[in-house]
Amino acid sequence: MRRVELKDGADLDGFRRALRGLVALGVEPDEVDWNIGAAPSLFGDAAPLPADAPPVPLPRPVGALIESVVCHRDPERYALLHRLVRRVVRGERDMLDHHADPLVHRLALLDKAVRRDLHKMHAFLRFHEVRDPDGGERYLAWFEPDHFIVEATAPFFVERFESLVWTILTPVGSLQWDRRSLTIGPAALRPEGLDRDDRFAEGWQRYYESTFNPARVNPTAMRAEMPRKYWANLPEAAAIPAMIRSAPARVQAMIEAEAAVPRRRTPDKAVAAMARQEPATLAELNRIIRAAEPMISGPLVPGATQAVPGEGPVGAAIAIVGEQPGDREDVEGRPFVGPAGQLLTRALEEAGIARSAAYLTNAVKHFKFVARGKRRLHQSPTAGEVKHYRWWLMKELAFVRPRLVVTLGATAALALTGRSVSVLRERGPMGFGDWEGFVTVHPSHLLRLPAGEGAERAYRDFVSDLRRARGLVEGAG
Ligand code: URA
Repeated sequence: MRRVELKDGADLDGFRRALRGLVALGVEPDEVDWNIGAAPSLFGDAAPLPADAPPVPLPRPVGALIESVVCHRDPERYALLHRLVRRVVRGERDMLDHHADPLVHRLALLDKAVRRDLHKMHAFLRFHEVRDPDGGERYLAWFEPDHFIVEATAPFFVERFESLVWTILTPVGSLQWDRRSLTIGPAALRPEGLDRDDRFAEGWQRYYESTFNPARVNPTAMRAEMPRKYWANLPEAAAIPAMIRSAPARVQAMIEAEAAVPRRRTPDKAVAAMARQEPATLAELNRIIRAAEPMISGPLVPGATQAVPGEGPVGAAIAIVGEQPGDREDVEGRPFVGPAGQLLTRALEEAGIARSAAYLTNAVKHFKFVARGKRRLHQSPTAGEVKHYRWWLMKELAFVRPRLVVTLGATAALALTGRSVSVLRERGPMGFGDWEGFVTVHPSHLLRLPAGEGAERAYRDFVSDLRRARGLVEGAG
């Protein structure tokens, strides 16, 4: 048996050193006894690992996974990583792509827990101004992470608060920044009286109140995103109950006052930020859409009330993708509940498709409009905006796994194909990459047609498209 000694916490350097030696000697994972934070063995190691073993070349995602997983509290983390590396160096270089592999699955869960913890520390750590013996400004924060992430968060806080002198204390380690250099220190106890006489806390509270969007009040999502455990350290938590109480009146005032000024979107940044969150279920994805997205890139237009996620059962045979929520959907937070939605529901019934059995969603998750007095007039999303939301749409479909994706109108077809589709000319079955697809018109197109024979024919054609789509699914079943 090989005894390997590592320091308490996330000993990345120690692990890398040990790994080199273990790989150089071809030691099997079952032959290693990992000792974390233990006193050195009195008898020494019968066969020490070579100190000068060469680095182990690993694919970049494996290196990134190691950096993350060493931060987890799981005492088996090093043994699991050693098993991973052993298999990679033996030729399974793309093994991280095999999500069903039990080892890969377990490591992915550890990685996810660490990322979540990092996110919580970045989002919920609050500095308090404290009196410095020299009379200088100094800030102090207390945080209780679940894992050994303190060192890993340092670059984030240094970059954000480079011009301040600060200390972060946690039960698993501390960080100190003096505007020039960072010192990593030992575990600490919660300092007394942190929340008294504190201008910084007041500042945070005012900032939070001014950025709080009453239209998005969703106490369940707020609690999920900001668990109670963190409230004690959050100055703004005191303001939440009053803000929730005043939200409905403020929403009304906002709707009336807000002008619709489109914002600059940064799809790549938003997508990268979303991808880091790795939702494990559709419900989790929807929670992110509802709660976290505005923090990353803001709603599609200021004044849109809320993100509108999809609706329907996971495993639905048919997924129906529209363009974006309309005025009613924006208020109710559900897709296809306004006039176009009612027409769609009727057409689905006539085509023999129960609305409740289908999954209904949109290419874009926020209502885009231009305000005209009290009315909010629909505006089509741009291609950039469709791209911005595409990550979610694809994730949703991956969770729902429909047998057929029906797109309504040009925007949805663009989202699924990545190209401009002439709906009237190309309507019918179409491959959408991973999905069997079917292109048809949008019900709001039917609502815009002047009443008469032409409109009735267009509606009948729409129903017959939906019937055909149903036939494809039943044929495929
Ligand atoms: N139009 C859409 O495309 N989607 C809705 O949810 C409502 C109207």
